[in-house]
Amino acid sequence: MTQLLITGGAGFIGSHTSLLLLEAGHSLVVIDNYDNSSPEALRRVLELAGPGAADRLVVVEGDIRSAADLDKAFAAAPSGQPIEAVIHFAGLKAVGESVGDPLRYWDVNLSGSRHLLKAMQAHGCRTLVFSSSCTVYGLPETMPIGEGAAIQPINPYGHSKAAVEQMLADLAASEAGWRIARLRYFNPVGAHPSGRIGEDPSGIPNNLLPFVSQVAVGRRTELQVFGGDWPTPDGSGIRDYIHVMDLAEGHRAALDALLAEPPQLLTLNLGSGQGHSVLEVVRAFESASGRTVPYAIVARRDGDAACTVADPHLAAERLGWRTRLSLAEMCRDSWCWQQANPHGYGG
Ligand SMILES: NC(=O)c1ccc[n+]([C@@H]2O[C@H](COP(=O)([O-])OP(=O)(O)OC[C@H]3O[C@@H](n4cnc5c(N)ncnc54)[C@H](O)[C@@H]3O)[C@@H](O)[C@H]2O)c1
Repeated sequence: MTQLLITGGAGFIGSHTSLLLLEAGHSLVVIDNYDNSSPEALRRVLELAGPGAADRLVVVEGDIRSAADLDKAFAAAPSGQPIEAVIHFAGLKAVGESVGDPLRYWDVNLSGSRHLLKAMQAHGCRTLVFSSSCTVYGLPETMPIGEGAAIQPINPYGHSKAAVEQMLADLAASEAGWRIARLRYFNPVGAHPSGRIGEDPSGIPNNLLPFVSQVAVGRRTELQVFGGDWPTPDGSGIRDYIHVMDLAEGHRAALDALLAEPPQLLTLNLGSGQGHSVLEVVRAFESASGRTVPYAIVARRDGDAACTVADPHLAAERLGWRTRLSLAEMCRDSWCWQQANPHGYGG
């Protein structure tokens, strides 16, 4: 049993990963300020994790930009033991919002991460799994994208993730003993197959799958497809979607590798290596839900790429991890969550 601190553990990816880690027998402290999540998510994580799990989860409502809140979290392990590793999900992730309010992104994503690293140093914890993003690659020229591709983000969100990645590399170079994984996620979607936890974005969803499922359930009238003239077989953009349960497994594998191997800085793509177009996703969702998803093709958005697909080989080689779940399963589980919770955790 490892004592873990999970920042942002009430969020979409954090809640699914927390469940998996509780099921694996670990003991967790979650720190979250509920900026983009609900305490209900962690209540349901405990319900799914079953009897006894409540003794291995402490939730601290707090902000990663507060040294006092972080100290509280580091001292809160249910066993009273020191925290051995941190999984750092807390952050802001909406590209469009980051363009309008870059300082907020630099504050939460960069300054929040710096506070966390200082707290880790102060508490003698040097093992970290960090949520990075394929956004750090910007608009790469070659596909699939390997980890060696240039880091050239094109929006404030991507800049803030790339800056944290750099800060982690500088830290690992400055002091022996750090075990750090920088995980670059592609497009996480889906939900726990029970339909009890899932993605609950506040406001208008920024990502395709929550939007599609809100159209299917009748919360929104139609999907806007940004660009029908991309150089792809059906003209719509292609992305690499990864089921959130596969992503959670990727975190567990990365954590196991960090704890078992000598100190290192590991940088890995977490994606499936398979691309699906927006229109393919719409069709897959229609067959999973039995509902029609009306859509309109509108102009391209600035900064979008025709196609973004991961080269996932390094993660397979280093972690023995690869995705298992298909687009049909992603749509099935998103639909199950959306249907049972048409208004997310709010009812
Ligand atoms: N979902 C994606 O498409 C995607 C893709 C690539 C990378 N990521 C990264 O993965 C991480 C998790 O993403 P997610 O989809 O679960 O997002 P999310 O918004 O559902 O979860 C983030 C969590 O962090 C919390 N949080 C935000 N600011 C905080 C602060 N200052 N202090 C404490 N808690 C705070 C939020 O309340 C939320 O619970 C983020 O860092 C995101 O940038 C996400």
